[in-house]
Amino acid sequence: FFQGSAKKPLRGRKMLVTAGPTHEPIDPVRYIANRSSGKQGYAIAAALADLGAEVTLVSGPTRLDTPRGVTRKSIESAKDMLAACEAALPVEAAIFAAAVADWRVEAESDQKIKKREGQLPSLSLAENPDILATVSARKSDRPSLVIGFAAETETIIENGKAKLAKKGCDWILANDVGTGTGTFGGDDNQVFLLTRDSVEDWPKQSKEAVARTLADRIAKYFQEVDA
Ligand code: CTP
Ligand code: CA
Repeated sequence: FFQGSAKKPLRGRKMLVTAGPTHEPIDPVRYIANRSSGKQGYAIAAALADLGAEVTLVSGPTRLDTPRGVTRKSIESAKDMLAACEAALPVEAAIFAAAVADWRVEAESDQKIKKREGQLPSLSLAENPDILATVSARKSDRPSLVIGFAAETETIIENGKAKLAKKGCDWILANDVGTGTGTFGGDDNQVFLLTRDSVEDWPKQSKEAVARTLADRIAKYFQEVDA
């Protein structure tokens, strides 16, 4: 049925969302990963698409279906996630909800590492590129609104503000992953929206509700920019 533009305030705007874990290969059959379900990022992609945005979802491995109206690019490693994000630019807003592995295995073995009597393999790690910081620091094609997450277990607002400054992004959604809400894989999330000059305490709500609240805030941001 007919929906007026009031219900599609993000119509025609391109947006990028990252979601899920990354898998960092050890050898052809093994990897390092984390417990991210991808639920929050997928919900954000869906909520933005519902408001009319053209969404590219760069996703690590998850068990989730691609939301209706969203274009998904599936990747495994952090390096591939960065390349897929750069390929999706230019966009007007980018939301980095992925739980990117901080480290990868420095020298991936191209053959399966065999078990040998009395010998343990040792893995040395290298730091992954910071996708949020890299996109935030771009000279060309920097999205006008760059949003990151901060998963914290203590002094959430303080750590979130430090992350906002360090990453050079515009907003941070800081969430408490240490108290039973917002735990990886859970359904609810309690977040603070931090900007350079404000702190909002959002109520504990479902990840879908967090996503809708964020999509509405993003629509309001672009309304104000355009006004
Ligand atoms: N992020 C990213 N690329 C990375 C690491 C993190 O894009 N290599 C993004 C995440 O998607 C998130 C934000 O940066 O939006 C913060 O991630 P987080 O893991 O909380 O921050 P780190 O800087 O990795 O710090 P730490 O894990 O030590 O708390
Ligand atoms: Ca991290």
